[in-house]
Amino acid sequence: MQFELSEQHLAVRDAAREFAKQKCLPGVIERDRDMKHPTAQLKEMGEMGFLGMMVSPEYGGGGMDSLSYVLAMEEISKIDNSCSVAMSVNNSLVCWGLETFANEDQKQRYLTKLATGEWMGAFCLSEPEAGSDATSQRTTAIDMGDYYLLNGTKNWITNGGTSQVHLVMAQTDASKGHRGINCLIVDTSWPGVVIGAKEDKLGIRSSDTHTIMYNDVRVPKENRIGEDGFGFKFAMKTLSGGRIGIAAQALGIAAGSYELAAAYAKQRVAFGKPIIQHQGIAFKLADMVMQVESARMLVYRAAWLKDQHKDYDMASSLAKLAASEAAMKISVEAVQVHGGYGFVKEYHVERLMRDAKITQIYEGTSEVQRIVLGRCIENGQIYLP
Ligand code: CAA
Repeated sequence: MQFELSEQHLAVRDAAREFAKQKCLPGVIERDRDMKHPTAQLKEMGEMGFLGMMVSPEYGGGGMDSLSYVLAMEEISKIDNSCSVAMSVNNSLVCWGLETFANEDQKQRYLTKLATGEWMGAFCLSEPEAGSDATSQRTTAIDMGDYYLLNGTKNWITNGGTSQVHLVMAQTDASKGHRGINCLIVDTSWPGVVIGAKEDKLGIRSSDTHTIMYNDVRVPKENRIGEDGFGFKFAMKTLSGGRIGIAAQALGIAAGSYELAAAYAKQRVAFGKPIIQHQGIAFKLADMVMQVESARMLVYRAAWLKDQHKDYDMASSLAKLAASEAAMKISVEAVQVHGGYGFVKEYHVERLMRDAKITQIYEGTSEVQRIVLGRCIENGQIYLP
């Protein structure tokens, strides 16, 4: 068992840490307040290779492993979760899904531009009446011979208004249930793609989240991923990896909140000594570091299992559940350690606390992760193969 990061992993982590401090930190409070999209930051992230980290160099990506991606996600998420969610969706839902399941022509047309950050992608599964219950797709893709006629509405779509490519799950044959769902690659410049208003959110406020309407969009047959009816499996397999990315985001929030709280507690003096010397605060920090390190082990191990091509469905749900619960608890406690200062924007912890909440909701709520874990337990799966 190897607990040390390699030189290469440390270099990726340090580059992401430096990038987050130099490029994401300036203006993060104002972007959050004004819901201003981090366009410049994402452009630079593309140039630095953060938007297609795991894609093979053949298609313009960084050819890195999942652990490298997790380390970069963690560092950027300590500072700006609007940047890291865009990064996560593009890397693990869009690029990974295309590289793993799309055909060569689709990879050449789309993946090569998405992996470099020239284009951004969105993953369009959730609907007004199909969130956790993802098999109940109301969006339809009617087979018209050489194209699909796409109609429906998708909700809470990250990168919704700033992406050139949408991967859209839609029902082609309702009589087949989830086996009648397809995943279509949609170019957002096509007629009938309508971008709704940007959502005004509790956290990750500058990330680009929209409702999307597809009105009679003609999608050529060659833009379907995989065999007819593969769409739901595509979504589930892709989300399994995506959950490792969101687990890393949650880990970044947890670790970032803890680091801010520890630094504050060392310099803030009350009752004649730094507050870290008061047991009430020291105990809080001890609990925080325990939760950060527990989550970190689960997140890194899920990435390692994926890199080893071992089954990681259970590990990714476990990592996401643990890390998002840790992010929520630790960020609330970090505000508490800061006292009144924690309640104002300047100290960053209130933003991390607001950002933490979404990690318990998107890419499968905590309840969905428990459903997945419950089924794994029922099927006799063990965590470490
Ligand atoms: N890999 C491959 N196939 C899988 C799978 C996996 N990990 N999980 C399920 N499947 C398959 C099952 O084998 C089954 O196929 P068969 O019938 O052919 O065997 C099929 O999918 C249906 O599975 P279930 O019967 O388990 O489906 P269910 O209706 O009981 O739901 C669920 C299972 C886990 C709750 C699932 O619906 C789910 O994950 N829901 C949450 C959806 C979600 O995460 N949405 C996030 C949206 S994306 C997002 O948030 C991105 C963003 O913008 C940040």
